[in-house]
Formats: sequence, C-alpha cells, structure tokens
Amino acid sequence: MKYRAIKGVKDILPGETEKWYFIERHVRDIFETFGFSEIKIPIIEKTPLFVRGIGETTDIVEKEMYSFEDKGGDSITLRPEGTASVVRAYIEHGLYNSHPLTKLWYIGPMFRHERPQAGRYRQFYQIGAEVFGEESPSIDADIIVMLMELFKRLGLNETELQLNSLGCERCRPLFRERLLDFIKNRLPMLCEDCNRRFESNPLRVLDCKSKNCSEVIRDSPSMDGSRCEGCQRHLDGVIEYLLITGIKYRLNPRLARGLDYYTRTTFEVTDKRLGAQDAIAGGGRYDSLVEDLGGPQIPAIGFAIGMERLASLIDMGDNLIPPSSPKVYIAAMGEEANRKAFDLLYQIRLRGISGEMNYSDQRFVPNKSLKSQLRKGDQYGVSYTLIIGDNEIKSGKVILRDMKRAEQEEIDIQDIVEVLVKRIGR
Ligand code: HAM
Repeated sequence: MKYRAIKGVKDILPGETEKWYFIERHVRDIFETFGFSEIKIPIIEKTPLFVRGIGETTDIVEKEMYSFEDKGGDSITLRPEGTASVVRAYIEHGLYNSHPLTKLWYIGPMFRHERPQAGRYRQFYQIGAEVFGEESPSIDADIIVMLMELFKRLGLNETELQLNSLGCERCRPLFRERLLDFIKNRLPMLCEDCNRRFESNPLRVLDCKSKNCSEVIRDSPSMDGSRCEGCQRHLDGVIEYLLITGIKYRLNPRLARGLDYYTRTTFEVTDKRLGAQDAIAGGGRYDSLVEDLGGPQIPAIGFAIGMERLASLIDMGDNLIPPSSPKVYIAAMGEEANRKAFDLLYQIRLRGISGEMNYSDQRFVPNKSLKSQLRKGDQYGVSYTLIIGDNEIKSGKVILRDMKRAEQEEIDIQDIVEVLVKRIGR
C-alpha cells in the first residue's frame, strides 16, 4: 500500500464515530446544564501565542509544536492545545464586557509531535472547558464536578481524581528554591532535559516522562508546606466544596502538569486501564494568563479531556448505536425503471426514510440481474426492497418485498411512498 496515514495520526472509522457521537451528545447535554456555550476556535494561530501562553521551556513549546512559515512570512502553529486560543479569543472579542462570568467549551483536533505510543497521538481530539471571571474555590469544584459527572454518565467507574495546588507568584518561588536545593545534588542522575531545565524551569523536572528521573525525584519536596496561607485556604475551599457532592479525590502534592500557565488548583483524572498514558483529562487554574496575553486581570480555570483515551474506555453495551443502514433498497430493471427508482428514492428520503438504489444505468453500465440486485439489498440489511421493471411501470405497480418475512406484494406506484412511511414508522 503506497499511501498510509502519517505516523501518530489515526482515522476514526464508522463504528467508532458512533461512539464519538454518543460522547458528544452527553458532553453537550451536561455542559449546557452547567451553563457552558460552545466556542469554535481556529486550528492555526501565530506561534508566539503558544510560546507565551504555554511557556517557552515546556516540552510542548521546546519540542512538540508543528510550526511553519506561511506564505506571508508569519510563523504559524497547529494548535497543541485549546486554552491559549480560547484566551486569545476571549480578549480579542472583549467577552469580559458582556458577562461577569464566561463559560466556554470546545471540541477539536490538537497537534503535538510526541513519540507515538498506545494512547499518545500526534493528532488527537480534545474536549475542553474554560471559565473566566471567578476566583472563588467553588467554581474550581463546580468545573471538576461537571467533569466527573460526565465520566459517571459515560459509565466510567474506575477513574481517579488527583488534586493539587501549585501556589501563586508569592509562594511558588519558595517551592522552587526547595526543589532546586534537592535537585542540585542529584543532577548527574537526571536526564539531559532535566539538567537543561534545572535553572530555567525546575518544576518541569517533576513532570519528566523518564522512568529513571521519576525514581530520582520520588522524595523531592512537594507543594505541601510551601503554600502561602491564601493558597492553602483556597485549596481547602476546593476540597470543602467537592465534599458536598461526595466526589472522591486524592491529594497529589507532586502533580505538576506540563504547561506553565497554572496557578493554584491543578487536577488530573486518570484510569489505570489506559496503561502508561493514563490521564484522560487534566486542567487547572490560570489566574495570570489573560493578563499575560494582553487582557485585563481576570482569573480563569479549565480542563481538557483526551477524546481517543476516553472513547477507548467506553463500553457501549446496551447503548450501542448501530451504524446507520438504509431501510429501503430499490432494485430497478430497465431505463424507464431506473428513472422511476431515482424519483421514488428522492421522495422517500424527503420523508426521512433512508434508502439506496441500484444506480447502474444500462446506457453506461450493464444492468445487474435482479438476483444480484436483491443480494445487494440483503447486504445493506434493508427492511424492504422495491422491485421496479418496465412492465411494472406500464401497469403502474411496484413490487414491495418484506425482507424479514420473505413475502412480497404488488402496490400502486402512487401509493408506495405512503405505504413505506406507514410501515417504517416515520
Ligand atoms: P493536557 O494535560 O496537555 O492539558 O491535555 C489534556 C488531555 O489531553 C490529557 O489528559 C490527555 O487525555 C489528552 N492528550 C494530551 N496529549 C495527548 C496525545 N499526544 N495523544 C492523545 N491524547 C493526548 C491541556 O491541554 C490543557 N489545555 C488543559 C486545560 C484547559 N487546562 C486549563 N484549561
């Protein structure tokens, strides 16, 4: 086979797309109930938006972005995530002027040039949600509750919610110092990337994907004990609100997340069944990003779900929606019959009934035998086949064959659409 999809990119075929549709239906339903509206953001943005937004020394910006120069000489990047674009749109359209609280959600493909492996793709879909304009911990809990409610409705009952607070610009430097002290003596045991990031972004060391590095930093200082009073109270507040709804969580003071914009609350939802890439969703608060990207000082929080990972965990069971198959097949023998079949197919589709016909017109392609056309109807799995030949046209009748009962009868052509509508139930 000469052409294959690019490494790390996958086709979502019929059969799987029904599952995606099922997920999206629940997402729309739940997100709307929680007051979110959908935003459609572009797939491409100017590169500096992501460099500034995600952070210059993150893996994403350093190694994983699909960036290119366009014909106008601008550096353009295929979005590696949605938050920076949503913030850009929020500022650009002054959305903060219309509502004190803005709740937006999005769905679409993201692009990261990572090493492909099970559950890790170079093009993957995310469903994300972002809330702008509220600092209180109740909104952190609210968005987490929405996420966990979605997973519950989709039948996921082995997920784990990990929760942390990365502090603010006041207390994070203290943590950074403690971390630097710890790492300093262990540099020879850490990978090249961690050595390079030691000074510029030591928090990234906590997030390193190398097994060896995670072993070395297992007992590193965590955010616990480094948070200022305000950040600790905020985290306690998030927990207090989560407890009201009975949502279970595990505090993980070493949860770092791979993006630099986070302040205070961060969280990740994992599921062991996913293997090495076990995060289905991740998110957190980013109280300085709107201002950093040129907007007013507005706090915000959000999350994103990895669609492929989520879909792989969903057992459709009784909810399985079979790929749609046509209800009616029209077998036609002869030139006039072909035209009549085309007309009838159009009329039944107008009434909402799905159908297929024998498209071969014998002026171009020899007509198939009636037997082979009927076999085709069988392959489609239709409930009814209509048989039209030039004789039937002359007598103004068609033959209606009930495929399950293997019975057939003659019906007047002018009545056939209504008969089908009645029997198929539209
Ligand atoms: P993230 O943790 O980079 O966060 O990605 C969120 C989710 O996207 C992950 O938990 C995972 O399920 C999925 N994901 C990430 N990379 C891949 C990949 N290469 N292949 C398959 N799935 C992947 C963000 O992107 C933030 N923008 C989330 C956020 C929104 N924070 C605040 N607001």
